[in-house]
Amino acid sequence: MEISRVGVIGCGFMGSGIAQVCARCGYDVVVVELSESPLSRGLATIEYYLTRDVEKHRISQQNKVSTWARIRGSIAMDDLNDRDLVVEAVPEDMELKRKIFAKLDRTCPGRTILCSNTSCLSLTELARVTSRPDRVIGTHFLSPVPRSKLLEIVRADTTSEETLATVEQFGRSLGLEILVAKDTPGFIFNYLLLALIGSAVRLLEDGVASAEDIDKSMVLGLGLPIGPLALADFNGLDVGYMVGRAMYERSKDPCLAPSALLKEMVDSGRLGRKTGEGFYKYREEE
Ligand SMILES: NC(=O)c1ccc[n+]([C@@H]2O[C@H](COP(=O)([O-])OP(=O)(O)OC[C@H]3O[C@@H](n4cnc5c(N)ncnc54)[C@H](O)[C@@H]3O)[C@@H](O)[C@H]2O)c1
Repeated sequence: MEISRVGVIGCGFMGSGIAQVCARCGYDVVVVELSESPLSRGLATIEYYLTRDVEKHRISQQNKVSTWARIRGSIAMDDLNDRDLVVEAVPEDMELKRKIFAKLDRTCPGRTILCSNTSCLSLTELARVTSRPDRVIGTHFLSPVPRSKLLEIVRADTTSEETLATVEQFGRSLGLEILVAKDTPGFIFNYLLLALIGSAVRLLEDGVASAEDIDKSMVLGLGLPIGPLALADFNGLDVGYMVGRAMYERSKDPCLAPSALLKEMVDSGRLGRKTGEGFYKYREEE
């Protein structure tokens, strides 16, 4: 199936990046938000990053202008009624995503492929609220989307071979390497990431070593670019806690059991870089 018109729902951190990358690669993009205020914030973010790409000579001024011209913002989901493929990127809340998939199913033509950028929720459950479970699939873009090289595709139990092949081709057209995973909690990337971060937090909690030494073991011992605790701070401890808890609730896998230390840090507002303190302390300029 030929994809040329793409829709994105949610113009937050991930949705703005997904809209930007799709438009940069030649797709006509409509991005839908809840209301004018988050929409203009999201569009301003896209424009800011396009300008920065020009300044850093990653793209030409002409490329920025043509990319920007391919993106249209809207606050009406009905504007997605001519799209070939829609990527949902609203917060990680199953009830909200179920409502959006049911509405998308009523709004979009039968041929439209419905994708979710969920980090860990069940695609099969989302597929069930639609009349096209063969055309529902996970497209897990990684952050920051404009710099990422990877797309993790997640097959719902009901996803057809044709949908999978079309979405693999779509991902390649965005210049991304493809991973294909089954619909399991956290898929490949977040299962491994959360298990690593969770183990690092437990070592710290049990007093086995300092945060610095735990991170150093992975950076110098394994060649990772950043240690697991520093990475958790970077992503936001509240985000990690929420995703980890959702994965544990789905799987009951002991590797993913939520840690008391992490909960205590989140409850006390120590969320990592964004609040100036997490496993490490940060100065404002960092
Ligand atoms: N943040 C990450 O690093 C990351 C990485 C990979 C995947 N994800 C996943 O991507 C999804 C989005 O995460 P995010 O970090 O971009 O969240 P975000 O909070 O930055 O953005 C979500 C956006 O959705 C909008 N929204 C909420 N309800 C809506 C509705 N009914 N219609 C239209 N827009 C609506 C919000 O206004 C907000 O702008 C989540 O499922 C998350 O788990 C996040």
